[in-house]
Amino acid sequence: PISGSKEKEKTLAMIKPDGLLGNYTERIKDVIVDYGFSILREITTQLDQDSASRFYAEHSPKRFFPSLIKYMTSGPVLVMVLEKENAIADWRTLIGPTDAYKAKITNPNSIRAMCGQDLEKNCVHGSDSRLSAQREISFFFEDVSSGERIITHDEL
Ligand code: PPS
Repeated sequence: PISGSKEKEKTLAMIKPDGLLGNYTERIKDVIVDYGFSILREITTQLDQDSASRFYAEHSPKRFFPSLIKYMTSGPVLVMVLEKENAIADWRTLIGPTDAYKAKITNPNSIRAMCGQDLEKNCVHGSDSRLSAQREISFFFEDVSSGERIITHDEL
């Protein structure tokens, strides 16, 4: 290995129902690739009440929870595992602040500024920590190692 090579990191990215509905998928993927992420996995799926509630379980006590679940089950979502150095923080920076309305003002080049509308319809999701990335990746994908090291099939 080249000395100084850095550890890669994985994060879970999701294009929410309004992102798919607005046909933003290709534009978002172009940004993903331009910024040096590899898309390791992707799946288009429809969340139901149960799966959306489990995915967002930590927010269940909040007032916005019923509305969030209704929105997230309103249409299909595209879920991806992204990989690069510092993927978790870099993806969060790239998508911009949670409130897409504010993002248009403060972070006009962010993905949420491009395709989101407000605090709820904010077009994309990104894991906020290593722990949540691990949890969220295994929520959707069975066989992606979420630890530090990936043992590829050839090494087994
Ligand atoms: S918190 O309270 O700070 O933990 O919430 P936050 O991290 O900002 O947001 C968590 C997710 O909930 C969504 N959200 C909302 N949905 C609907 N209505 C309101 N008011 C609202 N506020 C926050 C927000 O888009 C976040 O979704 P993800 O998918 O995690 O980005």
